Amino acid sequence: QKADLQTLRQAPFPIGAAVVPSTLKSNANYRNIVTTEMSSISGENAMKMNSISRGRKSYFWDDADYLVNFAAENKLRVHGHTLIWYKHTPTWVASFSGTKDDWKTILKEYIQDVVGRYKGKVASWDVVNEIINDDGSLRDCIWLQKIGPEYIELSFRYAHEADPAALLFYNDYGQEWSHARRKAAYHLADSLVKNNVPIHGLGLQMHTNVARSVNDIRYAITAAAVTGLKVHVSELDVAVNPDKKLTAFNETVAQQQKERYRAAAKAMLDIPENQRFGITMWGVHDPSSWLSPNPDWALPFNNLFEKKPAYDGLLEGL
Ligand code: XIL
Repeated sequence: QKADLQTLRQAPFPIGAAVVPSTLKSNANYRNIVTTEMSSISGENAMKMNSISRGRKSYFWDDADYLVNFAAENKLRVHGHTLIWYKHTPTWVASFSGTKDDWKTILKEYIQDVVGRYKGKVASWDVVNEIINDDGSLRDCIWLQKIGPEYIELSFRYAHEADPAALLFYNDYGQEWSHARRKAAYHLADSLVKNNVPIHGLGLQMHTNVARSVNDIRYAITAAAVTGLKVHVSELDVAVNPDKKLTAFNETVAQQQKERYRAAAKAMLDIPENQRFGITMWGVHDPSSWLSPNPDWALPFNNLFEKKPAYDGLLEGL
C-alpha cells in the first residue's frame, strides 16, 4: 500500500457501489457503509427504463429521486444506469406501434426527460448497455429492430443535448474474457468518436469470479484505456463459488478474491489519471449482491457488514 489509506473514500479515484433505495432507507449498517466508504453510487435497478417509464410521458420518479437526493446529502457522485438496454424495457414500448420517426421520437422523449430531470445532478450515464453479442455482432433489441443501428448514436446525441456536461458511457460485460467482445467494443467506440458522437467513456461491468485469471482484469482495464476514453469498472463483483460446490466462505477463496479486487484497483491506478472514472461494485455486502443467495460471497463486505480480505485488496491496490 503506497498511500496510507484508511477508507475507500480516500482512494485517488471514485469507488462506489450499486444501491437499492429501500435498503438505504431500512438498513442503517448498509447505509453507513455507503456514506463512509463510497464516493459514488449507481442505482442497481432504480434508473432502468422499466423502473422509471410507466407509459409514454408517464414516469415514476420516486426511487431515482431518492438516490439523487441521498447522494446530494452525502456528497456522493451519481452514475446513471442505464438509459437504453435490451432488457428491462417497459411493456408499453414493446407494444408501441409507429413509424421509424415515431420510434426516434419516443427514444428522444424518454432519454431527454430523464437526463433533463437530473441535469447537473447525475454526473454520468450509461447511455447504452450490453449492445454487443459474444461474437462481436450488434445485439438484437427493439430499438435496433425499429430504428436500426443509428439508435446507438442517436441515444448519445439526445442525452448530450439534454445535459451537455454529463459524461456518457457505453457499458458492456465480458471484456475481460472475450477478445471478440473487446474488439467489437473498441471498434464501436472508435467509430462513434470518429463520427463526433458525444461518448466519453467505456464501462466494463466485470462480473468475474475466482476461476478466471487475475491478468484478465488488468488487461481489460489497460486495453480499454488505449481507446483514450474514460474507463469505468462499472459493476465489479468477484464470485468465489462459480461451480456452486462451496458451502462456506473459506480462506483460500478469500485470498483469491482479494487478489482480484487488488488487481482491479491497481490497474485503474495505472491508467492515465484523466481516464480513471472509477470502480463501482455491484452491491454493498454479500447478501445484497444480485448473485445472492447462490451464494457467491462476491463483495468486499460480509453478511455482518464486516470488511473482508477483498476490502484490504482494494486498498492495497491503490
Ligand atoms: C441486475 C440487477 O442486479 C438485478 O437486481 C436485476 O434483477 C437484473 O439486473 N448487467 C447490468 C445490470 O447491466 O443492470 C444487471 O443488474 C446485472 C448485469
